Amino acid sequence: MSGKYSHNAIKTLFSADTIDTRIREIGKAISNDYAMLTPKSPLHLIVVLKGAFIFAADLLRTITIPCTIDFIRASSYGSEKTSSGTVTIKHNLTVANRHVLLVEDIIDTGLTIQQITAELMAMKPASLGICSLLDKPDARKHPVDITYTGFIVPDTFIVGYGIDYDERYRELPSLGILDS
Ligand code: IMP
Ligand code: MG
Repeated sequence: MSGKYSHNAIKTLFSADTIDTRIREIGKAISNDYAMLTPKSPLHLIVVLKGAFIFAADLLRTITIPCTIDFIRASSYGSEKTSSGTVTIKHNLTVANRHVLLVEDIIDTGLTIQQITAELMAMKPASLGICSLLDKPDARKHPVDITYTGFIVPDTFIVGYGIDYDERYRELPSLGILDS
């Protein structure tokens, strides 16, 4: 995958081209679905940092209706490969009466997105959708209703395209499985 890392450490799952094609499809669906809802106020994307930053940047450029963007910080992993179970959320957002779409990298146990959703719902958005690049349904412990999913993945550890292991591999253009 990348010369910087040993070649058998990461098994490619989705190439940059495959990711690009899928993101265009999602951008089209979002543009269609929200076209009637957002004639006056734009669609408001809230990106969950850090893992979703590359996905969000690419997705934003495929959306053809007016939209705005903001960011939220959530972390539960530290330098472990399994979720620590406590989620730290940092934000200073205004969502009241706005059509909000959360942009996430992976929904794994569902804990992070469930906590973010609860916090945002308390601020009374006009609507709240979830767009996740990856979904690991086999790892789910907290139910999540995902509005847009890029790809379903097995319950393995994924890196690349913004997604890290201990802050590494975010720069890889494709998505792959990191061997344990
Ligand atoms: P959850 O709270 O268990 O759903 O975990 C969600 C967050 O954990 C995601 O937003 C990712 O940041 C991180 N995460 C979950 N699975 C992976 C993975 O396979 N690779 C890297 N990060 C992951
Ligand atoms: Mg994340």
